[in-house]
Amino acid sequence: MTAMKWFYSFLKKHNWRMALGLVMVTVISILAIVKPIVSGSIVDDVITAGNYDLLPKLIALLVIITILRGVLRYWSQVIFETSSQDVLYSMRDTVYRKLLQEDFNFYNKKRTGDLLSRQTGDMDAIRHFIAFVIYQVYENVFLFFFALIMIFTVSWKLALCMCAVLPFALFVTLSQTKEGRPRFQRIREQFSSLNTFVQENVSGNRVVKAFSKEDYEIGKFNKENDGYRDAELAAAEIWTKYVPQFEFLSNMLTVILMLVGSIMVIKGSMTLGNYVTINGYLWMLMNPLRQIGWRINDIQRFTTSVEKIYATYSEEPKVKHPAKPIPCRKLQGDVEFKNVSYSADDEDIIHNVSFKVKSGQTVGILGSTGSGKSTIMNLLCRFYDVTDGEVLVDGRNVKDLDLYNLRQNIGMAMQDIFLFSDTVEGNIAYSRPDCPFEAVQKAAVMADADSFIREMPDGYDTIVGERGVGLSGGQKQRISLARALLKEPSILILDDTTSAVDMETESYIQQQLNNIDHACTIFIVAYRISSIKDSDLILVLNDGKIVEQGRHDELIKNNGYYATVFRHQYGEFEKYVDEISQNNIGGEKYGTK
Ligand SMILES: Nc1ncnc2c1ncn2[C@@H]1O[C@H](COP(=O)(O)OP(=O)(O)OP(=O)(O)O)[C@@H](O)[C@H]1O
Ligand SMILES: [Mg+2]
Repeated sequence: MTAMKWFYSFLKKHNWRMALGLVMVTVISILAIVKPIVSGSIVDDVITAGNYDLLPKLIALLVIITILRGVLRYWSQVIFETSSQDVLYSMRDTVYRKLLQEDFNFYNKKRTGDLLSRQTGDMDAIRHFIAFVIYQVYENVFLFFFALIMIFTVSWKLALCMCAVLPFALFVTLSQTKEGRPRFQRIREQFSSLNTFVQENVSGNRVVKAFSKEDYEIGKFNKENDGYRDAELAAAEIWTKYVPQFEFLSNMLTVILMLVGSIMVIKGSMTLGNYVTINGYLWMLMNPLRQIGWRINDIQRFTTSVEKIYATYSEEPKVKHPAKPIPCRKLQGDVEFKNVSYSADDEDIIHNVSFKVKSGQTVGILGSTGSGKSTIMNLLCRFYDVTDGEVLVDGRNVKDLDLYNLRQNIGMAMQDIFLFSDTVEGNIAYSRPDCPFEAVQKAAVMADADSFIREMPDGYDTIVGERGVGLSGGQKQRISLARALLKEPSILILDDTTSAVDMETESYIQQQLNNIDHACTIFIVAYRISSIKDSDLILVLNDGKIVEQGRHDELIKNNGYYATVFRHQYGEFEKYVDEISQNNIGGEKYGTK
């Protein structure tokens, strides 16, 4: 499908309304054509021939025509405006739904500012096209050719002389279209770029301040601002160049009428009334010519915007819904990775990972930064699809399960926490907005968040700033954990979720996780041995591979990476305790007695 066909699929739902609007515009145009005839008749029949009785009738006709045109103009405007809003509404809705379906790969590559521009500035160019440009172009083309036909009926010789400007008008139109297209594309790109810059700087303004980079950012902003202004000026150059040419051509029509028309009246081959009538038609020829430049401008803005929106819309997510999904309302939570590999941009990120856990078990994942821990969790949720191997949940490949059902069964507290600007309760109850407050509070208690939430100014009704501004790192983690717990998932993923809470809180949370009253497989990604040492299975990752796996005791015996990390985290302390107990010194000081 092309961008224009896609656009038309929205517009065609309003075909009848648009057609009615255009019929009204046709009537308005025909009524406009009557006016010069009446003026000509006043000159020839009333003033010249002395038929004075005709005057009141002609004036009454003019008044009726004026009122009728006003009423029709009002209703046609209402029709085009409402149609444009309806088209825009469904187009925005369709694009937004598609954006929600897009996968992580899409969002990793797209700039937020670009996506915002598609839904705002570009949509507005489409609204303007439907509400204004379509009927303006139609009316002008209609008036131009109708007026030309009318002039032909009055004097074909004069009409032919006037037609001489048409090839020039066509040539200028084509030149402007050709020259304008790349400039309008540049405007849309610069607009997106400016939007992206402002959006990133507003979200990241704390970093800017922390590094005192205001001047640097202002410099960068000025570049973006200059870029957008230059793009607009380059487009403006087009109409400053071409609009005068159209103006010149339209004025040539007056010159032709005055020159040829006057000679014809003097020679007696045309009446003065006919001259007045043709003079009355002149604006119908001049106006469209004058406006061609502007309308081409509008049409190019519109086509560029439709193409940009469609390009975003037509990107298909790599992670797809299966054609015949296996429904899985409630999963048990058995998880198996079978020789799973994942690579992105020709880089191996996960390599031949295999492990198996049963419903209700806890899996701890440890590994150096960048070793692929989060990626494994992302593969389980199907945020990315494996390049090789299989991820099985309850013995079924996740690619065959209904995607939404699968994710409904997984509660994930992500490493990169995102809280919405909503109340604390709204954030926790994100997955179950209609659940009773008691359930929200229970989840908060389990995540050890209840006490600090109740101390907040409005308790659970406290509004959290954008991305959780106003909360400490540990508080955000606990709200994110409560949000995942409230889902009562079959699989719970805690990706670095307790890294910012103190050991005592972490230990409390672990006890609560042990007390979850439904079967739930828990994945804990952590750097601290204390967070994972009681797990049924511990996976140690390095460079995308599992280098060790087993229970805590087995891994300590193994004396590999896990044991080294354990000694780093516990070794010094145990040495300390050993020293104290052997020498029995400083017992009181260190509180061991
Ligand atoms: N979408 C992606 N495209 C390309 N590379 C990626 C993508 N996601 C992750 N990576 C790369 O894969 C590697 C593993 O990333 P991952 O986020 O899984 O690490 P991690 O073990 O969770 O690290 P950390 O402990 O710092 O959170 C990193 O080198 C990262 O740069
Ligand atoms: Mg990670």
